[in-house]
Amino acid sequence: MKVNVIPKVIAFPQKGSPCTISDDWVIGAPAKLKKYAYYLQVEIKNILGLDLKLNNSRKEKTIKLKTNKRKFVLAHASNVSCQGQHIEILGRDEQGLFYGIQTLKQIFLTSNNVIPACNTFSLPGVKWRGMHLDVSRHFFPISYVKKVIDLMALFKLNRFHWHLTDDQGWRIESKKFPLLHEIGSRRDEEGYREAQYYTQEEIKELVAYAEERFIEVVPEIDMPGHTQSVLAAYPHLSCTGKPTEVWLDWGVSDEVLCLGKETTYEFVEELLDEIIPLFKSKYFHIGGDECPDTAWEKCEHCQKKLRELGLDKSRALQHQFTNFLGKILEKHDKILIGWDEITEGVLPENSAVMAWRGDAVKAAVNAMKQDKQVIFTPNNCYYLDWRQTDEEGEHGAFGVTGLKRVYQCNPYRLIGKSTNRFYKAQIVKSILGVQANLWTERIHNEKELEYMLFPRLLAIAEQAMWDFELNDFEEFENRVKIVCEKVLKHYDVNYCETIYTGIKQ
Ligand code: ACM
Ligand code: ZN
Repeated sequence: MKVNVIPKVIAFPQKGSPCTISDDWVIGAPAKLKKYAYYLQVEIKNILGLDLKLNNSRKEKTIKLKTNKRKFVLAHASNVSCQGQHIEILGRDEQGLFYGIQTLKQIFLTSNNVIPACNTFSLPGVKWRGMHLDVSRHFFPISYVKKVIDLMALFKLNRFHWHLTDDQGWRIESKKFPLLHEIGSRRDEEGYREAQYYTQEEIKELVAYAEERFIEVVPEIDMPGHTQSVLAAYPHLSCTGKPTEVWLDWGVSDEVLCLGKETTYEFVEELLDEIIPLFKSKYFHIGGDECPDTAWEKCEHCQKKLRELGLDKSRALQHQFTNFLGKILEKHDKILIGWDEITEGVLPENSAVMAWRGDAVKAAVNAMKQDKQVIFTPNNCYYLDWRQTDEEGEHGAFGVTGLKRVYQCNPYRLIGKSTNRFYKAQIVKSILGVQANLWTERIHNEKELEYMLFPRLLAIAEQAMWDFELNDFEEFENRVKIVCEKVLKHYDVNYCETIYTGIKQ
């Protein structure tokens, strides 16, 4: 008996016959779990084309939904058992129940509705099982972002990092600074001249949609670099104050916020005061990556501010700015997240680090030395804009990170190998989790986006759920093929069919 689900579930065979549901089955749930029964009803209609009624008193031919804290030790754990005329989904809590439903959806699809008598368990996984999406370089409408959220939920991911702003486009409405979305969201390029941004209503709608699927939306407003779209709208915020345009190139722009002028700090605080309350996550990402200091070196305001602060290097301006942002976030009771460049200065008290450069180990260790938590997202493993096979013409950029390389990435082992400064338990405690990052410079449409995500996102979901304790790539590869063929195809998701098992870059 094999149950083909990703992330892998623990599965035991049970006595009894397989079950096949038909339209005389019902869904049974107590009143407090009714909304999950309705959700499952819609999903079953979509998967099997069956209209199941709700009935909480039937015993036979029933899919029973339950929660019970006492049955499990670990939060969000779930148990799905199938046998003859009974299916039961038991969650430790509502999130566990929701995950049990995801398990069952995949079982329906991969077994063609002939479900072996089985008893399956799913684990809680690391706390942060994330996926990032850059909507600045190429924009994707809310209706499509919802599809991405549904796919994340199907594979039990729980953090959506929404990269909303960058040099090439500002994608969130601001009522206080409307030129941000009116000017900053279009660029002088065929097909990109119309404004493309999310209204505040759409943002709230997506946050609520994700919350129902146990996914926190963590927005990123990237500062002080990657801000050319801001400066196109409000040029007085740059060092020179000269007009500029939303950027038409990829890479790192020298157009950054001036950190010498008081007006920049006032602008940023007012803007964040407006944007932060649109989101519910405890975390807020302020970017902080790839910010050249060339403009600051030449700017009289920046140099004056440096002298006033008693600092010598221009780079120190960024570190005091990160701490200024930390104070704003603290006012809103949020934890600051920044890309790993922020570890080069003293980190704000309430902050976490997203380690991304190279194998991400150096930055992770730097953050741990400051007693901060780390989200592990090495660009040489978890950046899904990299090519996934070494075939001629393969879509993507940079090196090759095939499915096997992604599957083998293990932050505990990598950090443990590089330093003996920390015990394994300290490393495990410091790694909040992992994340797939999808930058969209070379992703023009939904089909390309899905091709880059799958199947590699499945490897990250698998390892995140199993705390990197897995080591059987061949078994995983077989399951991936089945899940791609039966699950992703059903949901009309594009994926890369070649599974590259080399680990070269
Ligand atoms: C990054 O890839 N610039 C965080
Ligand atoms: Zn300046």
